[in-house]
Amino acid sequence: MRKRIVAGNWKMNMNYKEANNLFEALSKIKISNSTNVIIAPPSIYLSSFKNNNDKIFLSSQNVSNHNNGAYTGEISAEMLSSLDINYCIVGHSERRSYYSENDKLISKKIDALLNYDISPIYCCGELKLDRESQNHQQVVKSQIEEALFHLSKSQIKSVIIAYEPVWAIGTGLTASSEDAQNMHFFIRSLISEKYDSETAQSISILYGGSCKPNNAKELFSQPDIDGGLIGGAALNHKDFSDIIFSF
Ligand code: 13P
Repeated sequence: MRKRIVAGNWKMNMNYKEANNLFEALSKIKISNSTNVIIAPPSIYLSSFKNNNDKIFLSSQNVSNHNNGAYTGEISAEMLSSLDINYCIVGHSERRSYYSENDKLISKKIDALLNYDISPIYCCGELKLDRESQNHQQVVKSQIEEALFHLSKSQIKSVIIAYEPVWAIGTGLTASSEDAQNMHFFIRSLISEKYDSETAQSISILYGGSCKPNNAKELFSQPDIDGGLIGGAALNHKDFSDIIFSF
C-alpha cells in the first residue's frame, strides 16, 4: 500500500519563535500508522528543530543543483543529508516563476538529492491558461518527462510527486476532486507506460493548491490522491491537524 502523506510547505513565513512553537505543537499530534507527515520549514530552522515524533519528517524547500563550491547562498544535498533531512521540495511553481527554474535545472537538483538518498517532492502543474485551453495534460506530461524520465526504476520510486495546479495555489480556488483525480490518474498512467504498473502504483502523488480542512477529506478519498502538499493551512496548528486527520 502507498504511504499517505500530508506535507506542509511553510514557504517564507514565521520567525524562529513562531516556527518552533508550531513545530513543537505538531510534534505532539498522535498520527496514524499509515500516515507520514512532512514539514518543510525555512531551511535556516532545519538544524534546530527537535523532532521526537517518528511519524514526522523534515524537508528542505530547495537545494542547489551543484555538489559544493563557490555558490554563495546555496545549500547542497550533502549539507541536507548531514542533518538527516529526508525530503526536499523541487520544481515548486513559485521557484519556476520567480526564480526562472526550468525542468532541466530541476532534473539536476533531483539527481543531486538522489545521490544522497533524499527523496525529492517534485511539483508539477499547469497555469490557468493551460487549463482553459485544454492543454493541462500536455503541460504536466512534458514536466514529468523532462524532470523525471531520465531516472532508473529504483530512483523514481524514491520520488514523491505533487500535482499543484498553479491557478489553485494561494487563491482559494481548488481543483474539483474529479479534476484532481483525473490528473493524478493521468500522471500514474504516464509512469506505468514508461516504467511499469508496479512502479506507478508505488509512487505517492499528492495534491496541492488551496487544500483546506473543508476539502481535504473529499480530495484524499480519491483512489489516486495519496495526500496533500499544504501551503497556507499548514501555518495553522488546527487546520493542519484537521487535514492530517482527513484520511
Ligand atoms: P496553498 O495551500 O496556500 O494554496 O499552497 C499550496 C502550495 O503551494 C504548497 O506547496
